[in-house]
Amino acid sequence: MFQPATELMMTTQPLLLLENIRKSFGAIEALRDVSFSVGRGEVVALLGDNGAGKSTLVKMISGGLEPSGGRILFDGEERTFRSPLEAKNAGIETVYQDLSLCTNVDVVANFFMGREITKKVFGIPVLDEKTMAERTAKAISDAGTRIPSLKVNVEHLSGGQRQAIELNRFVYFGGKLVLLDEPFAALGVEQTRRGLEMIRRVSDQGIGVIIITHIMQQAFMVADRIVVLRQGTVAGDVATSKTNLDDVIQMITGENIANLSAYQRKEGLPRTV
Ligand SMILES: Nc1ncnc2c1ncn2[C@@H]1O[C@H](COP(=O)(O)OP(=O)(O)OP(=O)(O)O)[C@@H](O)[C@H]1O
Ligand SMILES: [Mg+2]
Repeated sequence: MFQPATELMMTTQPLLLLENIRKSFGAIEALRDVSFSVGRGEVVALLGDNGAGKSTLVKMISGGLEPSGGRILFDGEERTFRSPLEAKNAGIETVYQDLSLCTNVDVVANFFMGREITKKVFGIPVLDEKTMAERTAKAISDAGTRIPSLKVNVEHLSGGQRQAIELNRFVYFGGKLVLLDEPFAALGVEQTRRGLEMIRRVSDQGIGVIIITHIMQQAFMVADRIVVLRQGTVAGDVATSKTNLDDVIQMITGENIANLSAYQRKEGLPRTV
């Protein structure tokens, strides 16, 4: 069917496009010529050995570090984010396990932190607690997350529940790209499974996701595409459906390691999902 050029551009333009990204720390060249894209609603697993450059790359996308070279195009525009706040305002968020929530206030206060809704009582603005509580409850239940009570201080919630709050808040406030750097490192099997499901639900709403993980099974469970970094360069960029564990391990290590358990033994990695 005929599609006008502008519409075609809008539908085919990736959400995030990295072109020849470089990063040096003094004499250390952490990243060289890194190029790949993330589409709207696409989940990309960013894999690679320790020191491959994954966290450095994610920090450059989220405004924590400036690239030494190359271009970042986000939503069709060339962008340089000078702080995490600038990236966040553009719709890019990094979800850590529990670092960015305030543990000594409740779920609702965290959800609306910095974006509080107020109402006027006798002409004086006061917090509209009721509306905030209703909207938080709706956003959380719409996302299929279960939190025992929204009145509970976040310090009493588990790591998985905190992540759920962060992700749901991000979706609610119109986020476009979410970056997860080893989000499940400290979570149990059940919470990890729920986290993976939540990532799929988030991406179903058109949000792009980059997830860094050392656990191959997670990448195969959740990602549409796998991008492998090796010693600071892209060693592979493949659709998950068109590759397999052995090929990915070979991309990561550059060696032909017989199977996953041999790789996990070599890297001292856990064997659970
Ligand atoms: N602030 C820094 N100063 C100097 N070198 C750095 C800095 N940050 C990262 N590096 C170096 O850049 C390289 C890539 O590090 P990075 O943290 O991105 O790796 P990674 O792929 O996230 O590894 P891991 O899987 O262990 O988390 C490493 O050699 C690291 O030592
Ligand atoms: Mg890292």
